[in-house]
Amino acid sequence: MDVIIDGKRALRGTLQVPGDKSVSHRAVILGCLASGTSRIRGLSTAQDVGSTIRAFQRMGITIGTDAGEAVIHGTGIAGFDDAVPESLPEIDCENSGTSARLLIGLLSGAGKKVTLTGDDSLLRRPMMRVVEPLNDHGASIRATDGRLPVSLTGSRVAPIHYRVPVPSAQVKSSLMLAALFAEGRSAIVEPVLTRDHTERMLMHMDGPIAIKNAQRGNEIRITGRKELSPLELAIPGDISSAVFFIAAALVTPGSSVTIKNVLLNPTRAHILEVFRRMGARIETHVREEYPEVSGDIDVRYSKLSGVRIGGREIPLIIDEIPALAACALFARGETVVKGAEELRVKESDRIRSIVHMVRAFDGNIEEAEDGFTVHGRSGCGPAEVDTFGDHRIAMAASIIALAAKGRSIIRNAQCVHISYPDFFEVLENISG
Ligand code: S3P
Repeated sequence: MDVIIDGKRALRGTLQVPGDKSVSHRAVILGCLASGTSRIRGLSTAQDVGSTIRAFQRMGITIGTDAGEAVIHGTGIAGFDDAVPESLPEIDCENSGTSARLLIGLLSGAGKKVTLTGDDSLLRRPMMRVVEPLNDHGASIRATDGRLPVSLTGSRVAPIHYRVPVPSAQVKSSLMLAALFAEGRSAIVEPVLTRDHTERMLMHMDGPIAIKNAQRGNEIRITGRKELSPLELAIPGDISSAVFFIAAALVTPGSSVTIKNVLLNPTRAHILEVFRRMGARIETHVREEYPEVSGDIDVRYSKLSGVRIGGREIPLIIDEIPALAACALFARGETVVKGAEELRVKESDRIRSIVHMVRAFDGNIEEAEDGFTVHGRSGCGPAEVDTFGDHRIAMAASIIALAAKGRSIIRNAQCVHISYPDFFEVLENISG
């Protein structure tokens, strides 16, 4: 699908974005493990979350909807052993890295035999970051050249003691899910903070978790084989989707937008601090604190300056970097992103995709192994730009197109389904 976008259109009004994708994956997964029925409002409509739901349905767990809520009949931790067959048919995680990595942890923890696979993009993404520590703790998992298809041969995981070397919430969460099934106590240390939704949700479920903050990072302690209370949860809007409307409003003169009920967890909303450093006029109004921080965001067109990003900030804005690159194109001065080599192993090589995207709009960008430098300017012309099948590139390119002069074409834009199926309809409505 190609999408045509006419530029120079201001955004005005109020909108809501679908439920947060990361929180939704965890709500489905932990809902399936809870003892009893969980009810979840505002579950993400993303295809990726559908991949997780379909995986559990394939295991025989009942997930339905009732009056707009997802209703999950959890098996319990002990009950999972009996409710789910020991050998399972192949599970296709499609495009979803979160589904693949979290399920590898959970299913090897539970000692199931199964092969997990995915689409062409997911088949290229690294899996040893979860396979290796799980195998070192008793699992017996075979990967294909370090990637999917990955086969679990049914050996259970022992308590895990591990310091996570890559700052990755997926790795941390995968090991935490395995630890829920292990006989005894696990300790997973995270030297660099990443999104903490699994920790928050386990606490909300009265789960067997304690977190010790130490100078060398957070130590997450989990006692295995304890039961979890069912979830009653309303999931706030996804900040990683909201960011494209925030970026669009920032760079399109005359814009003023309110986004209601967005996740504002500090491990996810750090992009707002980065935008503020660039001179953005953004206000947040916190409405809820527990189990997740959420509220409304007001944003107005702003004259932006370049910014430097690196180190511990990167995991806190990892999914927002394509939107940041779009803003950088319209900012005064240089924007430098360093230490972001993880972007090379996302749904596409996002450093390369960002470089292609910015150049397609005739922007000035230099590529580095671990990031890029954008030399901003006040305006740009239209472009014909490919998405590389990457949803966040499709949305970032649309933002540049909206602020550019003239008519742009976004090729292969259907990939927005991965995180935000209605993105173009909402963009059309809010930009008149
Ligand atoms: C996610 C974690 C991040 C992020 C991904 C979702 C999660 O990946 O990029 O979109 O839900 O845990 P890493 O933890 O591998 O960096």
